[in-house]
Amino acid sequence: PDLFAPERQNSKGFDLSDGPTLARIDAARAEFAKTEFTAEPLLACNVAGLKPRRVHNPATGQLVGRVTDASAADVDGALSAAKPWKASAAERAAVLNRAADLFEESFGPIFALLAREAGKTQMDAVAELREAVDFLRYYAARGLELKQPPLGTFACISPWNFPLAIFTGQIAAALAAGNAVVAKPAEQTPLIAAHAVALLHKAGVPASTLQLLPGDGATVGAKLTSDPRVNGVCFTGSTETAQLIRKAMARHLAPGAPLIAETGGLNAMIVDSTALPEQAVRDIVASSFQSAGQRCSALRCLYVQEDIADRFTDMLFGAMEELSVGDPWHLSTDVGPVIDEEAERGIRAHVEKARKEGRLLRQLSTPKGGHFIAPSVIRVSGIADMKREIFGPVLHVATFDADDLQKIIDDVNATGYGLTFGLHTRIDNRVQEVTEALHVGNIYVNRNQIGAVVGSQPFGGEGLSGTGPKAGGPHYLARFTAPPRPDKAG
Ligand code: NAD
Ligand code: ALA
Repeated sequence: PDLFAPERQNSKGFDLSDGPTLARIDAARAEFAKTEFTAEPLLACNVAGLKPRRVHNPATGQLVGRVTDASAADVDGALSAAKPWKASAAERAAVLNRAADLFEESFGPIFALLAREAGKTQMDAVAELREAVDFLRYYAARGLELKQPPLGTFACISPWNFPLAIFTGQIAAALAAGNAVVAKPAEQTPLIAAHAVALLHKAGVPASTLQLLPGDGATVGAKLTSDPRVNGVCFTGSTETAQLIRKAMARHLAPGAPLIAETGGLNAMIVDSTALPEQAVRDIVASSFQSAGQRCSALRCLYVQEDIADRFTDMLFGAMEELSVGDPWHLSTDVGPVIDEEAERGIRAHVEKARKEGRLLRQLSTPKGGHFIAPSVIRVSGIADMKREIFGPVLHVATFDADDLQKIIDDVNATGYGLTFGLHTRIDNRVQEVTEALHVGNIYVNRNQIGAVVGSQPFGGEGLSGTGPKAGGPHYLARFTAPPRPDKAG
C-alpha cells in the first residue's frame, strides 16, 4: 500500500483551552450525569443472556448502568448468525465515515460514559473520541486499497483502558475489509461499547455483520476464540491473555487463522545530562501519570543520568505536586481513578512493598473513596528489577552513568517486551545508536511516549508486546483479508 496517509483528515477534536467549547461540552454531558445506561448482547438472533449486573463508577462507586452479559448459548447463536458485509468497498467506506460523523455528534453521552464508566479525565476523553473517529475514517480510506477478499468472521476482543478507541479501531478494521465481526468488550466497560455499536448500526452496518457480546473473558471470550467458525481474532489486552488465546486458536481454529494481538509493555525512558530538564519533566509526568498510568504505552522505568539525578528528581517531584487527583468528572482533574478494586489492590500492594523496603521516593496524597492510587515514584536499580507491568500511576526510577548505556539497552531488550521507549538527549548520534539497538515498536525522542496518532504514528510492539502489524498504519488491514492464493504451479 501507499505508505502515506490516504486523502482524509484526522478529527479536529475539541480545544479544551477555549471557554465556549468547554461550556458546550459541559452542557452536553451534564444531560447524562445521572442517566442509567444499559447494555445487552446485540445479536442477529434470539438472545438468551444472563441476569443483569450493575456497572459502577470507579471514582465514586455510584451506579452507571446495568449490563446483561451474553451466555455461552449466545456465542453459538452469534457465530451462526454472522454474515460478512455484502457491500462494495466504497459503500463500506461511506458507512464507516457516516459512523465517524455520528460519533462526533454523540460527544455528550460519550464523554459522560468515558468519565463515569471508565474513569477518564476530560482531556483523555477528548483524545479517545478523536482516536476512535480517526480509526473509522483511516480504515475506511485504507479499505478502498484492498485487493483481497475478507476472511469471514472476526472475533474482536478489547480492553477497558481504551473502551471506545481500541474497541472501535478493531471493529472498523475488520469491517473495512468486509468481514463479519463479533465484538467482546471488556467486562468493566460494556456500556460505552453498546453505545458505539448502536451508532455503527445506525450508520448502516448490518446487524448480522456487527454483533456485540458483552461478557466474561474466561467464558464468553474463551468460547469465542475456540470456535472453528471464527476465521481470525483481533485482540488487545494483556500478554497472558494473548497467550491463552493463541493456545485456544491452535487447538480449535484453522491453522491459517490470524491472531492480531496488541499486548502489554515494560516501557523505559532515558534522560541524559544534555536533555532540556523542563521539557523532560513535563514529558515524564504525561507519560507516567496521564490516564492514571493505565496505558500500555506508559512510562514504567525512568533512567536519569547520575550527575543530574538529584536536581532532576527534585524538579520532577515539584511538577507532580501540581497534579490534581480526583473525580474525572471535574474539568480540573489530571489523574482519575484506576479501573476497579482488583486493580487498586494489586497496585497498592506493589507500592506498599516498596514503602516497607524504603524505596518509595514520593507519593501524592490519595483522595478519599473511589479506586484511587496517588501518583508514586519508586527507586529501582534498573528495569531488570521489574518483573511485570504495573498498570497504574507508578513510576520507577534508576540512575545511570554514561558508560552504562549499552547495559540499559541490553536490559530493556532482555525484558522480552518491546512497546514504547523514550529518549531525552541533545546528542544526535546517541539517538541513532540507541534507536538502532532497541527491539521496541515505538520510540519517541525529546517528547512524551504516549498518544500515538492514527495515520501518522502507527502503533504496536515487538516480542511480548504484540504481533503487529501496527494499528493505524498502512499494513494493518491486509491481515484482515485472505492471503493471495499460492501459485498453483508452485
Ligand atoms: P485483559 O487481557 O485482562 O483483558 C482484555 C480482554 O480479553 C477483555 O475483553 C477480557 O474479557 C478478554 N479475555 C480475558 N480472558 C480471556 C480469554 N481466556 N479468552 C478470550 N478473551 C479473554 O486485559 P485488560 O486488563 O482489559 O487490559 C489491560 C492490558 O491491556 C494491559 O496489559 C495493557 O498493556 C494492554 N493493552 C495493550 C495495548 C496495545 O496496543 N499494545 C493497548 C491497550 C491495552
Ligand atoms: N495508542 C495508545 C498510545 O499511544 C495506546 O498511548
